Amino acid sequence: MSIYPVRRMRRLRAAESLRSLVRETRLNPGQLVMPLFVRPGWRVREEIPSMPGNYHMSVDRIIEEAVRLEALGVGGILLFGLPEIKDHRASHSAAKHGIVQRAIRGIKKECQRILVITDVCLCAYMEHGHCGVAVREKGDNFRIDNDESVKLLAAMAVSHAQAGADIVAPSDMMDGRVAVMRQALDQNGCKNTPIMSYSAKFASSFYGPFRDAANSAPAFGDRKTYQMDPANGDEALREIEMDIQEGADIVMVKPALPYLDVIWRAKNRFGFPMAAYCVSGEFAMATAAAKMGWADRDAVVMEMLTCIKRAGADIIITYWAKEVAERLHEESAARLQDYRNLPEEMAEGDFQQEDESEEPGDVSGQPQDK
Ligand code: PBG
Repeated sequence: MSIYPVRRMRRLRAAESLRSLVRETRLNPGQLVMPLFVRPGWRVREEIPSMPGNYHMSVDRIIEEAVRLEALGVGGILLFGLPEIKDHRASHSAAKHGIVQRAIRGIKKECQRILVITDVCLCAYMEHGHCGVAVREKGDNFRIDNDESVKLLAAMAVSHAQAGADIVAPSDMMDGRVAVMRQALDQNGCKNTPIMSYSAKFASSFYGPFRDAANSAPAFGDRKTYQMDPANGDEALREIEMDIQEGADIVMVKPALPYLDVIWRAKNRFGFPMAAYCVSGEFAMATAAAKMGWADRDAVVMEMLTCIKRAGADIIITYWAKEVAERLHEESAARLQDYRNLPEEMAEGDFQQEDESEEPGDVSGQPQDK
C-alpha cells in the first residue's frame, strides 16, 4: 500500500458527500427492535421511573404503540409482560389469556408487518424473580432447577406462538432450552416459528433499570449460576454454537457495548443472523450523561448503535428504536421534499452557464443547435 504523500486518508473525509459515499455501516429502521412492557388494565400508560421515555402500557395502549412503530417501519417489538399474578411455578407464563398472550393477539389483529417477538423467561412470573424454578436445598439455600425450568419455558414459548407471536426469544439461559423449545413448537403446530435465542447473555450489572421496569429482580441470590461470567469470550462462542446446533434461527449477545468483541467473533465464526441487545443500563448511561449536560444525546445514541452494527450485529434491540427510526425517516423525508419542490422544468437562468465565448466549436458536451 502506498503511503504519504500519495496516500492521504483525509481526502475521503473532506465533505459529508464523500464520507457518505464510503460509509461502511448504516442503521435502518427495519433492523431495529423496540422492547415494550405490557401490564394489566385499560388506557394505562405510565412512565417507568428508571427508564425515562419508556412506559408500562395496558394492552390497548400497546396496540396503539405497535401501530405507530409499524408505520415507522421499525422491524419488530419485543414484548415483556407484567402479569397479574406471580407464584413459584410461573403459572401465568403459559396462560392462554395471560397478559402477553392477550397483547400478541391484539397487536396481530391490527398490524400485519411489524414482527411480534416475545421474551420467553420466567423471572417476571416467579414470586422470587429468578428465571427458572427454584428448589430448596438444605436450609435457606436454593438452586435453580434446569430441566424443570426448561419444560415451563417450552410451554411458555408454545403459548406465545399459538397466540400469534412471530418469533420467540428465550432469555433464561437454562441449558438445552432451545432444543426442547424447538421440539415443543414443532409438535404443537408451530414449526415455522423462529427462535431468537439470547445465546450469550451475561450476568451483567447493566440490567438494573430493567429489573425495576419488569419488577423482576431476584429476591435472593443472583443470576450467576445461569447467566454467563462477563469475563468469558470463548465460552460465549460455545454457548452460541450450541444454540445454533439446537436449532436457534437467530442468536443474540447481551448486553451490547461492553461485549462488541463477542459479537464480532460470533459473526465471523458462524456467519449467522445476529442480534445484539443494547440493554437498560446502556440506555441509562447515555440518558443520564445527557441529562447532566455531559453528552450530546442524539449523537451518542447514533454512535452507539452504529458501532454495535459495525461489530457484526444485524438486528439491534434498543429502547431508542422508535426515536432513531423517526430520525432516519426525517432525513430522507426532507431530502424527498427538496426533490419534489424542484420545478418540472428548470427555467433559463436557474443555472449559471459557463462562459464559452472564447471557444467556438467547443466540445464541452452541450448539444449544439445546427
Ligand atoms: C429477563 C430479561 C432481563 C432483560 C431482558 N430479559 C433481565 C435479567 O436477565 O435480569 C434485561 C433487559 C435490559 O436490561 O434492558 N430474563
